[in-house]
Amino acid sequence: MLSPKIETALNQQVVLEAESSQIYLAMASWAEVEGYEGISNFLFKHSDEERMHMLKLVKFINERGGHGIIPKLAQPPAKYKGIKPLFQMVLDHEIHVSSEINKLVDICLKEKDYTTHNFLQWYVSEQIEEEALARKIMDKLKLIGDDKAGHYLFDRDLSSIAAPAGGGKEGK
Ligand code: FEO
Repeated sequence: MLSPKIETALNQQVVLEAESSQIYLAMASWAEVEGYEGISNFLFKHSDEERMHMLKLVKFINERGGHGIIPKLAQPPAKYKGIKPLFQMVLDHEIHVSSEINKLVDICLKEKDYTTHNFLQWYVSEQIEEEALARKIMDKLKLIGDDKAGHYLFDRDLSSIAAPAGGGKEGK
C-alpha cells in the first residue's frame, strides 16, 4: 500500500510525464509544419515514449492501492525559434525530469518504501539515456551552427537516431 505522501509524489510525476508528452507533441507538430520530417518523426516518437512513462506510473499507483490521477494540461508553445533552441529546451526539460526523479527516489528512501524505490530504478536509467541523447543532439547542432545544408543533413540523420529507448526495453 502506498503512503499518501508517496502517492502524491508519484502523481506529481504523472503530471510531469504527461506534460513532457504534450510538449514534445507540440514540438513535433511545429517541426512537421516547418518541413523537418526527420525531427518531427523523432519528436512524435519521443512524445509517445513520455506517454508510456506516464501510463507506467498510473498503473503502478493503481496496483499499489492508490489512484493514478490523469491531469489537466496547459497548452505548450505552438511555435519555436528554431531547431537549436528547440533541442536546448528538450535537454533542459530532461535535466529537470531527472532531478524530479531523483527527488522521488529520495522521498522513497526517507519513507522506507523500497518497492517504489525499486520501481523507480527503471526511470533513473531511462533518464540517463534520455539526457545523454539530448546532449548528443545538442553537440551535433553546435557543430553545425547556422549552416542550412547541415540542418538538412541533421534532419535526415535524426530519423535514423533511435528515439529514447523507453518502452522498447520493457520486459527485456
Ligand atoms: Fe519521461 Fe523524458 O521523461
